[in-house]
Amino acid sequence: MTLFGIAAKRLVTCDPARATPVDPLGVVEDGAVVYDERSIRWIGPRVQAAADVRMVDYGDRVVTPGLVDAHTHAAWVGSRHDEYAMRMAGADYRAIASAGGGILSSFRAVSAASEEEIAEALASRLRRMADLGVTTCEVKSGYGLEPDGERKQLRAIGVAKVAAGVPHVVSTFLALHALPESAKSNRDHYVLRVATSLVPEVGRSKLADFVDAYVDQNAFTVDEARIVCEAAKHAGLGVRLHVGQFADVGGAQLCAELGALSADHLENVDEAGIAALSRAGVAAVLLPVASFTLGQAPPPVAALRAGGVSLVVASDANPGTAPTESLPLAMSLAVRMYGLTPAEAILGATRLAAASLGLAGGASGRGVLAPGAHADLVVWDLPHEHAIVQPWGAPKALHVLRDGARIGSR
Ligand code: NIG
Ligand code: FE
Repeated sequence: MTLFGIAAKRLVTCDPARATPVDPLGVVEDGAVVYDERSIRWIGPRVQAAADVRMVDYGDRVVTPGLVDAHTHAAWVGSRHDEYAMRMAGADYRAIASAGGGILSSFRAVSAASEEEIAEALASRLRRMADLGVTTCEVKSGYGLEPDGERKQLRAIGVAKVAAGVPHVVSTFLALHALPESAKSNRDHYVLRVATSLVPEVGRSKLADFVDAYVDQNAFTVDEARIVCEAAKHAGLGVRLHVGQFADVGGAQLCAELGALSADHLENVDEAGIAALSRAGVAAVLLPVASFTLGQAPPPVAALRAGGVSLVVASDANPGTAPTESLPLAMSLAVRMYGLTPAEAILGATRLAAASLGLAGGASGRGVLAPGAHADLVVWDLPHEHAIVQPWGAPKALHVLRDGARIGSR
């Protein structure tokens, strides 16, 4: 079997086995990583790599694990530039949503599109994300709202997932996102139908790995989300929830109760909610592009950190609250707006993000440069890993590998 290698000045492994208090990223200086067409085989000093390895030396550059975007709504079509302009002129996101815009506007665009059109838009977006350094991407449905629409969006994610040159995709059935017009007068029936019919079907047909629900004021209640998430667990699906984007309605406690892998957003969460996440080991997925776009105050990052809650950083890529495809942008805002250290932002977009998707350690491990993990990595055209979190607004990834094969950049 042919072995390949990449050598560089700084190999940022993100491997807990190499991390120390002064070096939380476990950097190997003047290092080399050796891999086959799937997995990493060896990591060590540049000079010790075996002679029969096909080695490319990237000189003074930096290598990190491939980035892992743990929260996106990337399977969208259409554009919401009109409501963005309204919001910038002072209109409120939730008022626009109540008037039939927002999520319902993307629902109409997704309803009018074919499965192939959605898959094509998503695959193109995923390839652009790969050019930015992303090698694993979670993608939610949630713009279908009606059973047929959700099925169509999930199938489109399944098609894009196997397209050439895309990151590894983890798919999430966003089961409760907004009430479609047809369900306005029969909310309980809508929630029950999702829980008793659609969730079991998605589990059986393996159309998704996770179930998500938008638990918030003007969205869905803890009790409604619980019904759907219990059904998800019964169907063998993992749980991750939108929690506290606008108001703390107890979503963090629900995540803890359900053993969810992540609680996402958390701009509004109180001490009891943080304690619940900490006790249950639920990761916090921070989405700074959304709070930047909405002009919101940051989540209580210092309290989450003090509680030992794992801090993940994700893009939230969606046409409303986070019109971006860039996880590096989210990382730079996490540092600038949320006060994460560069090392925290890097871990939060690699190993900790992978763990929040159930991809930690062993043969399924991603987001880490360690023997046995998938050969997902980025060579950055940058002199130091701390430069990754500067707001470049331009791709800085030079070479992006997923499972040992090149998927992105020049
Ligand atoms: O994560 N808050 C709910 N969902 C998305 C926004 C979706 C949209 O506006 O289309 C979010 O911010
Ligand atoms: Fe979201």
